[in-house]
Amino acid sequence: MAGGPQSGSGEAPASADQLLGAAPGPGGLAGLKVVVAGASGASGQAVTAALTGAGATVLAVGSNRDRLTAAYGKNDAVASFECNLADRAAVEGLAGSIAAEHGGADGLVHLVGGWRGGKGLTGQSDDDWDFLHAQLITTLRNTTRAFYPQLEASGSGRVAIVSATATESPTASGANYAAAKAAAESWMLSVADGFRRSQSGRKVDPVPQRSAAVVLAVKALVDDSMRRADPAKSFPGFTDVADLGRAAAALFVLDAALLNGAHIRLA
Ligand SMILES: NC(=O)c1ccc[n+]([C@@H]2O[C@H](COP(=O)([O-])OP(=O)(O)OC[C@H]3O[C@@H](n4cnc5c(N)ncnc54)[C@H](OP(=O)(O)O)[C@@H]3O)[C@@H](O)[C@H]2O)c1
Repeated sequence: MAGGPQSGSGEAPASADQLLGAAPGPGGLAGLKVVVAGASGASGQAVTAALTGAGATVLAVGSNRDRLTAAYGKNDAVASFECNLADRAAVEGLAGSIAAEHGGADGLVHLVGGWRGGKGLTGQSDDDWDFLHAQLITTLRNTTRAFYPQLEASGSGRVAIVSATATESPTASGANYAAAKAAAESWMLSVADGFRRSQSGRKVDPVPQRSAAVVLAVKALVDDSMRRADPAKSFPGFTDVADLGRAAAALFVLDAALLNGAHIRLA
């Protein structure tokens, strides 16, 4: 799904090159607090490493306490929260705790994922749709609604999802997945519209855009354990989770006006 800056500035949206070239230096993100939603896996750990490496505090959220402790138990720059992000009430409680304990979040990087495919269009099962809906859409709707006031109030509010290039060329066998990801992209454009209307697009006393909702798109992700497991494979077109981490950190140093509503293909 195509996106573009919703700042009304008329400028071109930020590109992948700009994003990957804009890495903040050590301490560049000091003072920022970023929720990483779905933080326990390889992508979450890479995003967290990039953010904390630049001085941000990461509020790492996962559904399993043991996996969070294994990933972050000894990391002082990370506060971990066990929460089922598909549970609306639990997510509202989480946002309240983060507001009370940390003064609110500046960023939300949504990484909860999952994939299901079937044999052709008639093989798209309702069970798989329910799973994808919960993982890719419900967790996004819950987190963005709960954290929206904090992200809108922040001096540099950012929210990002990692979508899939499959939305541009959906297949019959991946119809459920591509439809769910397209819905998530559409939701992000609505978040961007909200940010624009309350900031640079405000009818009375507009202010410079300071919050941005961004879609980062990849074909697939690859990490070191995948490379070790299959050393002969080249993973063509895959995005390394380290690059995803760099892009996520750079979101906080690029101009919100160029990011809000942007769809940036990292693949
Ligand atoms: N992997 C790819 O090739 C690929 C391709 C295109 C797009 N993407 C997107 O990139 C993002 C990251 O991908 P990924 O493969 O790293 O994702 P993932 O492993 O499927 O999910 C990330 C983390 O989310 C946590 N999680 C799952 N359900 C949760 C829930 N209900 N509440 C809280 N946490 C939950 C999991 O940890 P716990 O089980 O410990 O909670 C998991 O480590 C996703 O949005 C995905 O759709 C990935």
